[in-house]
Amino acid sequence: MTQGARHVAIIMDGNGRWAKKRLLPRVAGHKAGVEAVRTIVRAAGDMGLEALTLYAFSSENWKRPEEEVNDLMGLMKRFILSDLDEFAANDVKLKVIGNWRALAPDVVALIDNALERTSGNKRTTLAVALNYGAQDELVRAARAAAAGGAITAEAIEAHLDTADMPPLDLLIRTSGEVRLSNFLLWQSAYAELYFTDKLWPDFAPADLKAALDQFARRERRYGGL
Ligand code: FPP
Repeated sequence: MTQGARHVAIIMDGNGRWAKKRLLPRVAGHKAGVEAVRTIVRAAGDMGLEALTLYAFSSENWKRPEEEVNDLMGLMKRFILSDLDEFAANDVKLKVIGNWRALAPDVVALIDNALERTSGNKRTTLAVALNYGAQDELVRAARAAAAGGAITAEAIEAHLDTADMPPLDLLIRTSGEVRLSNFLLWQSAYAELYFTDKLWPDFAPADLKAALDQFARRERRYGGL
């Protein structure tokens, strides 16, 4: 019997193409992407999701031009600062996954503060993947497991960045690309995958609803019959 999804993750792709279609600079696409994040976080809570994990900046995104990296970091900082009240109003607990402590000191301080300020919130956990790469996460988890004495699946899982979150049910990628791009590789082992051609800034609550409806119709067998 399929239950409703508890944890959804999204690879938010297509900001650049959204901007290009409008003859706008790429940063305009990322700005529109932040608006979509706001709307979807609210919708996720309303739709009863316990957790939403968003791929905001991968460990590979450093290869982008410096100006774009700076734009993305700036948007992230502004988002965290300006939405703290919104998180409180919507009972959203912020979490950050990835190697975020290696980011600039001002970003780390801002995140630390936001984590503390939202730590008591209960309705939805918003996990933002920042400087995240799944292979890096797995290496860190395997090392921690080995330090504890046993490299078992359970021990690795217990040391993943997502260890305190519900199992991943559904992974969505926008913009028509069909790959995982080093995102939540371990957690995707039994997740349903959902790909849509919508570009991220155009992804609306109705699209999230459609993905959740499709999830509810699929039968998950976890390798059984
Ligand atoms: C992919 O579009 C998107 C990103 C690399 C960054 C996603 C970031 C945001 C939506 C904004 C900040 C996030 C938060 C949580 C506040 P792309 O640039 O690869 O698009 P393209 O493939 O069309 O060029």
